[in-house]
Amino acid sequence: MKIGNIDLGERPVMLAPMEDVTDHSFRLICKEQGADMVYTEFVSADALIRNISATTRKLHINPAERPTAIQIYGRETEPMVEAAKIVEAAKPDILDINFGCPVKKVAGKGAGAGMLRDIPKMLAITSAVVKAVNIPVTVKTRLGWDHDSKIIVELAEQLQDCGISALTVHGRTRSQMYTGEADWEMITRVKENPRLTIPLIGNGDITTPEKAAEAFSRYGVDGVMIGRASIGAPWIFHDVKLALAGKSPEEEPLSLSTKFSLLRRQIAESIENIDEYRGILHIRRHLAASPLFKGIPHFRDTRIAMLRASTHSELNAILDRIENEILPAINTAGEINHNENQE
Ligand SMILES: Cc1cc2nc3c(=O)[nH]c(=O)nc-3n(C[C@H](O)[C@H](O)[C@H](O)COP(=O)(O)O)c2cc1C
Repeated sequence: MKIGNIDLGERPVMLAPMEDVTDHSFRLICKEQGADMVYTEFVSADALIRNISATTRKLHINPAERPTAIQIYGRETEPMVEAAKIVEAAKPDILDINFGCPVKKVAGKGAGAGMLRDIPKMLAITSAVVKAVNIPVTVKTRLGWDHDSKIIVELAEQLQDCGISALTVHGRTRSQMYTGEADWEMITRVKENPRLTIPLIGNGDITTPEKAAEAFSRYGVDGVMIGRASIGAPWIFHDVKLALAGKSPEEEPLSLSTKFSLLRRQIAESIENIDEYRGILHIRRHLAASPLFKGIPHFRDTRIAMLRASTHSELNAILDRIENEILPAINTAGEINHNENQE
């Protein structure tokens, strides 16, 4: 699959853009684990233009994480064009436009998925941004505003006519937010449209290597994008790429200690990038979501301590105890099976 001149190989797997999650160190880890392309968290066009430092910092790309898409959102054409030029100067591989964010503070103001209620404006912004920059422009959106307006098949064609180089569809409507299940049949309908020639990236509820493989084999997308299942588990890209290469997890298993090392590295880099207090706050979402800490008997107090730890050394000591005392004791007693994680 190619986006513009960027060759992402066969059946590429992308790290989804996620606010407060996909910073450059997480993106790099996901890339190392096998993600073929990564996205920044969304960046406000208005904040970019105002040169807000917390926003411009989001444009930083580590060369090793490439290819990287920087994603922007906004609600008016002119600021979006101006922001697109600022983004282009930061030299991402791709510029992605967010027309999918459902949260009130964005969609309620007409940006993100809010644009699904004003298609002419969405198309005007897209055309203007495509014309304004020399890098490939892509769009990420949803099926439509609500159940009665699943317009994505027609919209995909209209966006293609604006000159975008690829489209990502999250198989939910704005009204669904994150509830229900992603509708992959609808994503297939977009792909089956013979007039659609740009690559289609499918997104929504890819939580296992099997689901990723099915997205290609059954639903026919050109690429898949993984969001929530990577939080606290960047190694999902390793597992997915292995499965797509036709190998079983036993052929190249990732050890439990490798997984703990990845989480420790995330913590250290998060602290280095911000500061100890906010770095730990930032990483709690990953620790809370990580499958490493699921299903451990009598874990409640340790879990609370892990999610309340406020210094790096305190947090590391808790992780050491989980890795070296709690999990081995459980494995010996046979109460929990982390066998697939063992070296
Ligand atoms: C914490 C969080 C932050 C998100 N931020 C963004 C964002 O900045 N831009 C965007 O296009 N989508 C964003 N999304 C949506 C994801 O990119 C993705 O479309 C959605 O989570 C569905 O994919 P999944 O089922 O693999 O998680 C976010 C999702 C989550 C959970």
